[in-house]
Amino acid sequence: MSQKLKNRTAVITGASSGIGAATAMEMARRGANLVIAARRGERLEETASACRRLGVRCTTVVADVTRREDCQRLIAESGTVDVLVNNAGFAVFDSIAEARPDDLQSMMQTNYFGAVWCTQAALPQMLERGSGTIVNVASIAGIMGYARMGGYCATKFALIGFSEALRDEVIGRGVRVAMVCPGTTRTEFFSTAEHGKMPGASRLILAISPERVGRAVCNAAEDGGYRRILPAGAALYMRLKEIAPRLAHLLMRRISSLLE
Ligand SMILES: NC(=O)c1ccc[n+]([C@@H]2O[C@H](COP(=O)([O-])OP(=O)(O)OC[C@H]3O[C@@H](n4cnc5c(N)ncnc54)[C@H](OP(=O)(O)O)[C@@H]3O)[C@@H](O)[C@H]2O)c1
Repeated sequence: MSQKLKNRTAVITGASSGIGAATAMEMARRGANLVIAARRGERLEETASACRRLGVRCTTVVADVTRREDCQRLIAESGTVDVLVNNAGFAVFDSIAEARPDDLQSMMQTNYFGAVWCTQAALPQMLERGSGTIVNVASIAGIMGYARMGGYCATKFALIGFSEALRDEVIGRGVRVAMVCPGTTRTEFFSTAEHGKMPGASRLILAISPERVGRAVCNAAEDGGYRRILPAGAALYMRLKEIAPRLAHLLMRRISSLLE
């Protein structure tokens, strides 16, 4: 059942830039009150000011989602959490042979465990009330493995497995779990993730704006739908990947080798 965002309280992690900031702005436009979190307090304040100008309440919480106690404090300071958007994340792209162990661990701590800790902190109150929506920002890299992106893909595959399991655990108890899986999105993500290391074929699908992903996250928060993949070209390729995985990987390798 669709639940409008007006006057609801939404907590968004990773809202100091990119998809998280765009999601905060779109939620504010739809009338939600916000609690936004990230490590960079000044950038978070910029997002918060822009949201407040749209007439909603917006509180900032400086938090590092890799720290479980920060996630618990974020949820404790948020009061009633109607919507939780687990969005904080980053990537370093490297082949498995060359990947730095610290990068592999840190991506998992942020992209996967950050979402786990926030979810575990918010879930008890949602289950007790019998209402709440959790939206996890995964990726098409959580549906298909890409060469030189293995460490990052692993974090997003983990997040999707976690989300699907949680969805089945809570369904029928008033709590909804939705996933948003964007393709390449024009954000500061690419200040650490090297665009040139992505397989050539994956770069054929044009990059989308964070605002477009933000709208998809808000729609997911409203309807609690299972999974949104965007843009349409990426959704189509993911369908091929799920129906005929070996063919999808073969095409990815062959086309990429022609383009690289
Ligand atoms: N851009 C893409 O092509 C793309 C595609 C698919 C999925 N995604 C996913 O979308 C999400 C948002 O990424 P983006 O593209 O918007 O990149 P971005 O502009 O770099 O934003 C990442 C956000 O995550 C926050 N963050 C990172 N580490 C954190 C930590 N330890 N604790 C708290 N916050 C942390 C950052 O804030 P601070 O640095 O201030 O902490 C920032 O607000 C990520 O999960 C990413 O994997 C991105």
